[in-house]
Amino acid sequence: MASDRKSILNKLTAHRERLADQPMRQLFAEDEKRFDRFSVQVGNLLLDYSKNIVDADAMTALIDLARETGVEARRDAMWAGEPINSTEGRAVLHMALRYDGDDAVIVDGDDVIPGVRDVLSRIKAFSNDVREGKITGNTGKKFTDIVNIGIGGSDLGPAMVTLALEPYTRADLRVHYVSNVDGAHIHDTLKSLDPKTTMFIVASKTFTTDETMTNANSARNWIAAALGEGAVNDHFAAVSTNIAACEAFGIKSDRIFGFWDWVGGRYSVWSAIGLPIALAVGYDNFSAFLKGAADMDRHFRTAPLERNLPVIMGVLGVWYRNAWGFATQAILPYDQRLSRFAAYLQQQDMESNGKSVMLDAEAVDYETGPIVWGEPGTNGQHAFYQLIHQGTSVIPCDFLLATDPQENLPPHHVKLVANCFAQSEALMLGKTKREVVAELEADGMSAAEIAALAPHKVFPGNRPSNTLVYKKLDPTMLGRLVALYEHKVFVQGTIWNINSFDQWGVELGKQLAKALLPKVEGEKSSASHDSSTRGLLAYYHQMKS
Ligand code: F6P
Repeated sequence: MASDRKSILNKLTAHRERLADQPMRQLFAEDEKRFDRFSVQVGNLLLDYSKNIVDADAMTALIDLARETGVEARRDAMWAGEPINSTEGRAVLHMALRYDGDDAVIVDGDDVIPGVRDVLSRIKAFSNDVREGKITGNTGKKFTDIVNIGIGGSDLGPAMVTLALEPYTRADLRVHYVSNVDGAHIHDTLKSLDPKTTMFIVASKTFTTDETMTNANSARNWIAAALGEGAVNDHFAAVSTNIAACEAFGIKSDRIFGFWDWVGGRYSVWSAIGLPIALAVGYDNFSAFLKGAADMDRHFRTAPLERNLPVIMGVLGVWYRNAWGFATQAILPYDQRLSRFAAYLQQQDMESNGKSVMLDAEAVDYETGPIVWGEPGTNGQHAFYQLIHQGTSVIPCDFLLATDPQENLPPHHVKLVANCFAQSEALMLGKTKREVVAELEADGMSAAEIAALAPHKVFPGNRPSNTLVYKKLDPTMLGRLVALYEHKVFVQGTIWNINSFDQWGVELGKQLAKALLPKVEGEKSSASHDSSTRGLLAYYHQMKS
């Protein structure tokens, strides 16, 4: 028997069947006002969702789906500090980290806002002092390079934001990110740095993550070897919920910046995990980034669902995943500085909604989170867009574009804009056989040549996309965009009735790596492993000897 949730999702089937016979090019031809009907502007941010395979009835059904599955109630429960992360018994309050209002935000009977603001004021003081050279390395030299050591949520967010806000950075204070346990990462990062002017931030919610601790120990050895063990204090800071472990590592208490278990790793860029951002772009810009997210939170919490950006994007994703069976979602920023945005959203979305068990611990009987991937345009056009246009899979795309570039290089931006708009138009319209044949005839081709070539030049079209257009990629807008996607993922997780805030799926690999390490190091027995793993171990040791 189908689960209740599947029965609710099944209501979309009739709409899909109706729309299967009405390509978007026809819907556009029949309705001059389609863009006005299916676009929403919030401040300087426009969402054009008219190039989706929807009509008014389908959108009504999708918004009804959000209502029926309790998106509003769960959103309010999140904001009320209820432990909606049920498998870990935790509240989910990344919105509190950027809240700029006067209300209390309660977790377990306590207002968390004073603690949040206290850490922010410490980040402000520390980042100002480092940037002004008041805090120096142990030889008295100003810091020129900050190396953030973290992985997953303790890396992807700040790394993505630092790249995105490059125009706000200073050439004399560079911020680097080391995440991979592969020694190549820290080696290549440190190669050109001077220990005297380098500060490390060890960023880890748990302060136990093996990759991060391995990199942190190598960094400490690097400082100690160059400047002596006594210099470690002056060259390290830490960000964690595990203050005792930071102290045990040897980091001074005034260099430890805390956060709380109600902040999920992939939602932590707004917490002290954002310290390297404040160092890179200055505290005021970090604060503007938080403000942008707070604006989006207000919109998400108060706008009617029909005009609510995260809700609209969330239900469209569910539409494609469940009613149409599309497996992936492409993120295509026509904004080079968002080059790590898709990577960031991979963790955001796939670690949140890559689940196959409902909140009541029953297995789902419908699809959940999509595969998220992407690269900036126009680069992607010359790589994988062929498949998006003519491949056998339909891939819903999100295009992102600023109207105002940060550079004064006139020909570049208009070309970027033209390419972005052309891609969504081409995906929607496609090119029919008749249009192809007419073009080839006009080129003077013979009937035989046309018969052989035309099928290759047909574009099926009817391929869906959203386009997000914003004025400028400044800190506030970036905050809005990131929070928009966070809430979109929340909406989808709620509709799918899954816990978007745990990540048990990463544990098995960690456990097995721990068990395998002694055998990789040379311990003889590999009896408990399958023949492939045994074979790989044996081959590894043979090559090493
Ligand atoms: O392995 C997954 C994960 O737990 C992520 O959820 C998290 O962002 C990352 O590891 C890093 O964890 P930590 O900040 O505790 O080092």
